[in-house]
This record gives sequence, C-alpha cells and structure tokens, in this order.
Amino acid sequence: MSGLFITLEGPEGAGKSTNRDYLAERLREQGIEVLLTREPGGTPLAERVRELLLAQSDEPMAADTELLLVFAARAQHLARVIGPALARGCVVLCDRFTDATYAYQGGGRGLSEARIALLENFVQGELRPDLTLVFDLPIEVGLARAAARGRLDRFEQEGQGFFEAVRQTYLRRASLEPQRYRIVDAAQSLSQVQQALDALLPHIVGLCRG
Ligand code: TMP
Repeated sequence: MSGLFITLEGPEGAGKSTNRDYLAERLREQGIEVLLTREPGGTPLAERVRELLLAQSDEPMAADTELLLVFAARAQHLARVIGPALARGCVVLCDRFTDATYAYQGGGRGLSEARIALLENFVQGELRPDLTLVFDLPIEVGLARAAARGRLDRFEQEGQGFFEAVRQTYLRRASLEPQRYRIVDAAQSLSQVQQALDALLPHIVGLCRG
C-alpha cells in the first residue's frame, strides 16, 4: 500500500500552514488518515537544521551551503517521517518541499536548476509529490503579512526582487506540469481561500482513494 504525497507551496505570508490544517480537517472528515509535516524540518534533527537556515548570523551563508542544508534536512525527513508514512498508506500533507528549493535557492539565489535536480534525484530517488498546491499572491501582500507576524527570519529579510523570482519560479513550474499543480489565489480572504480548497476537495479525495 502506498499513500499520497501532497505539498503546499507559495511565497511568504500565503497562509500555507492555516490552509494545510484546514485541508487536513476536511480530509479527516472523510475518514482519510493524514500526517501533517513541514520543511525545512519535520524531525527533531531536521528542525535543528531549520534553525540554522532561518537564524540571522554575522557569518553570511554561502548559497551552496544553504542548498546542502536544505537537502540534508530533507534526507532526514524522508527517511524518518515521510517515507514510513507513505509506506503505511497515509496522506502526507507537507508545508513546503523541493519546489521551494527550486523557488528560493534556484529563483531567489540564482543556483542552477541542474544542480538542484542532481540533489533532488540523489536524495529523493523517484519520489515526487503527487499533488502540489501553490498559494499565490502578490509579493507586497505576502511580505506585509509576514512583517505583521513579528521579527523577520533570514529569508524574510530578502528584498522584493528575491521574492518576485521566488513567485515567478513557482508559477513557471506549475505551468509546465499542470496535472501536478493547482494554483490557489491566496490574496483572497481566508474564507474565500477555504472555499477554493473545498472546490478542490473532490479531486484530492479522488487521488487519496486511488
Ligand atoms: P516557512 O516559514 O514557510 O515554513 O519556510 C521557511 C523558509 O525556508 C521560507 O522562507 C522558505 C525557505 N525554504 C527554502 O529556502 N528552501 C527550501 O527548500 C524550503 C523547504 C524552504
């Protein structure tokens, strides 16, 4: 038996975590077993790597170091949490995954897609998300929401150009593989976003039931 791997993506302040919890609730109402997790993180060790990635530091982090840390955390998360959950037949709802690496380290930092793809194949083998929801919104709206949450982390302090590249990378990837991605307009009110998720629910439940 193998489960279903759903990832939630988007720039800062897109409301991914709130919507992930909402979606999990709707799926559980249908009797579907759901595991919620996030990246970077998802295991105690990977959460420590997350702290390294997000913390401000006097020593600038090289882009390749950032890329390797992201994939180091991912390898641990896959081995300890995602892989076993999928093998048990669970639906895994993961807040960010490798699309974020293409968007942030590729689009944002300018690392080559080929280098990211190399690590993706090395760490994940053939595993790719079955479905990816991209919560899309204008950069200014997302950054204002992130700023309202309090102190900015190392990524949130980047400038508008960085986040515009992040957003465009998500949209480009979604347009290249429309069967895997669904774009949700995250600039709407929360209740409108949840209505959009409700509309996607039959498709998601259909995937879950195989
Ligand atoms: P979050 O606050 O949305 O959970 O994400 C943490 C930050 O980590 C966010 O700014 C995006 C960044 N990130 C990457 O740069 N590359 C990745 O592969 C992942 C998963 C996240």
